[in-house]
Amino acid sequence: MPNLTVVGAQWGDEGKGKVVDLLTEKADVVIRFAGGNNAGHTLVVDGRTVVVHLLPSGVVRERCICMLGDGMVVDPAALQQEMESVAAAGIDLTGRLKVSGRAHLILPYHLILDALRETTREALGTTKRGVGPAYEDKAARRGIRVIELLRPDRLEKRLAVAVEEANARIARQGGKTVDFQDMLDFCVEHGKRLAPYITDVSHELDLAIKAGKSVLFEGAQGLLLDLDHGTYPFVTSSTTLAGGASPGIGVSPAMLGNVVGVTKAYLTRVGEGPMPSQDDGEAGHHLATVGHEVGATTGRPRRCGWLDLVALRYAVRVSGIRYLALTKLDVLAGMGAIKVCVGYRLNGQELSLPPMDTADWSLVEPIYREVEGFDSLEGVSDFADLPPAAKAYVRMIEQDLAVKVALVSVGPGREASLPLHGVW
Ligand code: GDP
Ligand code: IMO
Ligand code: MG
Repeated sequence: MPNLTVVGAQWGDEGKGKVVDLLTEKADVVIRFAGGNNAGHTLVVDGRTVVVHLLPSGVVRERCICMLGDGMVVDPAALQQEMESVAAAGIDLTGRLKVSGRAHLILPYHLILDALRETTREALGTTKRGVGPAYEDKAARRGIRVIELLRPDRLEKRLAVAVEEANARIARQGGKTVDFQDMLDFCVEHGKRLAPYITDVSHELDLAIKAGKSVLFEGAQGLLLDLDHGTYPFVTSSTTLAGGASPGIGVSPAMLGNVVGVTKAYLTRVGEGPMPSQDDGEAGHHLATVGHEVGATTGRPRRCGWLDLVALRYAVRVSGIRYLALTKLDVLAGMGAIKVCVGYRLNGQELSLPPMDTADWSLVEPIYREVEGFDSLEGVSDFADLPPAAKAYVRMIEQDLAVKVALVSVGPGREASLPLHGVW
């Protein structure tokens, strides 16, 4: 059976949760490969809303095995809480949750370090979930991995080094240090709880693929938040590229299948960093209120603006996106004329690529094309029934980016989806 990779093509919150939920209808396994609970993915199924942060968005599909891959950072307390919250929503995870022993842990001192940094001039507007500091420890080779929760006798020595290092940094910034014994107890307690789920996910995935199962690789965040290719330093600390699934799981890149990029019909961003097509006027207000643009993880208002084709074209190229899933087209209804950013201008020069220097990216002026708007899309269940101007908007994106739109989403629920092409 074929596999599929789904990633965000903007600054996150594109509607990946909805799209992954929809596409996992045909998946046997759904696996996250990067990031942690900085992600917030919303699924609306039969009028019921489920928000997941660490668990993959295939969680509602009871036949789907849900895996957390090696490249993730896992806060065991947050995972525990999320497992309880999906159980309370009637979702049974028994026998179908697998957590990689190679994933790194987010421990309480990572949250303290993240919050402290956000009070300095280095603030990035992070989600304060400890994701950045946990990846820093991983790169510094003092991170603690999930598998180590199972052997506290071996963990002690390495944890002592990590805690000492963290406490030195916390103290330097005037924060409240943590107690080593508390950290060890935290690990032991969560080790006991998570033990049944901890496994060699890379190996299990290999067995599943060899048994002919289909796998959906689920990205978090979006291309423009990628550590290497995004608006550095206003990015997250991991890969957000489709190809990141390979190192993030330990699976051949040849297994990733078609790449679906999810994009809103407009643009949002949470946190600091450039966003040339941000609109702080009436249009931005419409997008924020009609689109309910509030962060699914932190509850922060999202910055809103027009679709940026320069940035999207870049995302399509860098992430190798073959199909787009275009979400929230309904939110553009009733706005009158719609603007689309088709180029940037910097120091009088026109650019068709984002500048490499993020400081320049902050200075570019958007060049807009204005296209005809449309009215309510309520009740539309077939692409053919969209108003001509809405159809033209979708076709313009396809033409401009030379990529097919496989799915148009016109509401948060599963049913509000207009498929154009099969992607599996
Ligand atoms: P993710 O992080 O990419 O999974 O996206 P989020 O869940 O953080 O944010 C997307 C928001 O848009 C959620 O509240 C979704 O329920 C909602 N949403 C997704 N698709 C549509 C759509 O087509 N129309 C509308 N109105 N809302 C949508
Ligand atoms: P999903 O998967 C939107 C942003 C933060 C901040 C920057 C760094 O729901 O699309 P971090 O906590 O990762 O160190 O924050 O990245 N960010 C997201 N923005 N959606 C997300 O995830 C995000 N995950 C991180 O707002 O600007
Ligand atoms: Mg989100």
